[in-house]
Amino acid sequence: MRISSGPMLKAENVHKSYGKTKVLKGISLEVQKGEVMCLLGPSGSGKSTFLRCINHLETINQGRIYVDGNLVGARLHKGRLYEQKEKEICLLRREIGMVFQHFNLFPHMTVLQNLIEGPVFVKKEDKDSAIDRARKLLDKVGLGKWESSYPKQLSGGQQQRVAIARSLAMDPKLMLFDEPTSALDPELVGEVLAVMKDLAGSGMTMVVVTHEIGFAKGVAHKVVLMDKGVVVETGTPGDIFDNPENERTRSFLANVGS
Ligand SMILES: Nc1ncnc2c1ncn2[C@@H]1O[C@H](COP(=O)(O)OP(=O)(O)OP(=O)(O)O)[C@@H](O)[C@H]1O
Ligand SMILES: [Mg+2]
Repeated sequence: MRISSGPMLKAENVHKSYGKTKVLKGISLEVQKGEVMCLLGPSGSGKSTFLRCINHLETINQGRIYVDGNLVGARLHKGRLYEQKEKEICLLRREIGMVFQHFNLFPHMTVLQNLIEGPVFVKKEDKDSAIDRARKLLDKVGLGKWESSYPKQLSGGQQQRVAIARSLAMDPKLMLFDEPTSALDPELVGEVLAVMKDLAGSGMTMVVVTHEIGFAKGVAHKVVLMDKGVVVETGTPGDIFDNPENERTRSFLANVGS
């Protein structure tokens, strides 16, 4: 395994367009290992698109993205860039967990089966050890008793915690969250944020798109404000929430009522 000392995520001048619509217009940022970055910004500013570019669900038009020192979607050979092969892209994706607003659990599988599916069938792990690890992860997210249930028998908050555990079962080095609590009833938000806070405390590198300002204030090391496809402002939670420099940051925060 390659061990690199640089940032876990580095984006350099990332551009992405859909037809004539320019969605990302030169995003540059860095997330160090063990760091939690919260990505904020108005609807349509390109947050989800940027997350999808990180694990190459979208191909960027310009710029470069590195995950743990490895170029995403491209391979450098003798000074020239070549498109990565499907196999290389799959290897990259295994290392990046992604949790969406809608949990996307496999509805016909039990909670435990949801967790072992990736490790056993994608990573070819031994089934017994995958089950062992899955149970530990379920305990960690407070769902040890639910391993034989089906997703539809669980609340939204519980399903999202299963989705997080399922991502962790692949042993990722980077976790991406796209508004993981915005589809939940308000009383279920806290339990999911608590699991994410624990995960951050355990040293996981995380990029979290969220409107939960309290979470960003309490857990993020770095906060990035995006608007209209550009990074408007980057700083510590203290910088961004207590002393925002940019007018667009101020008006965004006034609108979300932080
Ligand atoms: N597949 C696509 N084809 C065309 N346009 C797209 C596509 N995906 C996103 N867009 C456009 O890109 C822009 C940014 O979308 P994106 O979903 O990244 O924003 P966002 O910041 O995540 O917004 P929200 O807070 O509403 O989730 C929007 O104008 C959207 O319509
Ligand atoms: Mg989005």
